[in-house]
Amino acid sequence: MNMYDLILKKRNGGVLSKEEITYIVMGYTEGSIPDYQISAFLMAVYFQGMNPQETVDLTLAMADSGERLDLSEIQGVKVDKHSTGGVGDKTSLIIGPMLAALDIPVAKMSGRGLGHTGGTIDKLESIEGFQTGLSREQFIHNVNHIKLAIAGQTANLAPADKKIYALRDVTATVDNASLIAASIMSKKLASGADVIVLDVKVGSGAFMQTLEAAEELARTMVSIGNMAGKKTYAIITDMNEPLGEMVGNALEVQEAIQVLRGQGEARLTKVAMTLASYMVLGAGKAETIEKAEEMLQETITSGKALKKFAQFVQAQGGNPDYIYHPEQFPKADYVEPVYPTRTGYLSACRNSEVGMSSLVLGGGRETKESQIDLTVGIRLLKHLGDKVDDKEPFAYLYGNDKGKIEAARMRLLNAYSIQDEPVETQPVIKKIILEA
Ligand code: URA
Repeated sequence: MNMYDLILKKRNGGVLSKEEITYIVMGYTEGSIPDYQISAFLMAVYFQGMNPQETVDLTLAMADSGERLDLSEIQGVKVDKHSTGGVGDKTSLIIGPMLAALDIPVAKMSGRGLGHTGGTIDKLESIEGFQTGLSREQFIHNVNHIKLAIAGQTANLAPADKKIYALRDVTATVDNASLIAASIMSKKLASGADVIVLDVKVGSGAFMQTLEAAEELARTMVSIGNMAGKKTYAIITDMNEPLGEMVGNALEVQEAIQVLRGQGEARLTKVAMTLASYMVLGAGKAETIEKAEEMLQETITSGKALKKFAQFVQAQGGNPDYIYHPEQFPKADYVEPVYPTRTGYLSACRNSEVGMSSLVLGGGRETKESQIDLTVGIRLLKHLGDKVDDKEPFAYLYGNDKGKIEAARMRLLNAYSIQDEPVETQPVIKKIILEA
């Protein structure tokens, strides 16, 4: 077998066998196939697609490219969630502490930002001292003791995904359903949770732009999860505008804290509550979704979820004071108001452009090696459907470089359309998929 022939086969629309897919995945993981050939292969997959069997074979080859984490030493039904990627999506930081406060073990493997979307690991690193590189022993110990651990992908957990993910990020090959399904499900299968809840984002800030595409991705992932013996649910949620008010790493952690204090923005709170409720249901801790929501709400009103967040931060080497005193988060040098181009109603948002605006400020990666600035980002005071006035700011930009702030302002203004007539708003939960 040789890589040139396999690139050519996929480029010409051929179907790859399990052996061929395994050859590619193992070769790239071991370093015998170079970045440029995998880049070409990914682009061929992007244009030609993969059939369901190829997607399953790719997922399993990636899951088996390293070790599979054995979580049998953790007592109870382990739950995990994963999002397909969005702008302003900080739900993991809200859901983890709520579930842990209900004594449901959350063993979560998270990623870094990808393209215009953010990643939980980058966000957590804005907390002083916070470590995301946990050993297997630490990870298991933390889940057993405080019921929550969030780790970055370790070198030997689905290493093929780690390499491919970084390459996709800089070769415009992220938004393909087979590549996303294999990326997410390989990590989920390798990281050993019993129940998986997937947040499949749809809309202008998501990798899937239509409900049909999102549903196909959701069903593919649910069927891979079920095949591997895991209870898997998918919730399709709106990503036609950022989720919540904040976009940017440190800013998003502060917004998550606000939700855990019971002062969260409505759409963000709704998505976090819905995902968490299905995790509670999947773990067998509640009979109905209503009961699950009630239990979760109580973790917020009692302060238990916030306390759990602080405990979790401390257990991973972070400074727990940040959680009770968010004013300690590092700050950007400049906070600049953004005025809308005219008065009217916010009618549409090209949400990936909002993500790019944050990336331009330094909040995302332009190349594999880019260092991100954790302090920068955007605060949105208005949402789709809201009335805006050209004399009042509708957003603030947080930045450390005046030139970048001006570039980000242009992108943010271009991201929004404003019209004279009132706009009907869309529900944030689009569809719930409990079986493939
Ligand atoms: N999240 C992942 O882990 N992988 C993707 O491909 C997209 C989102």
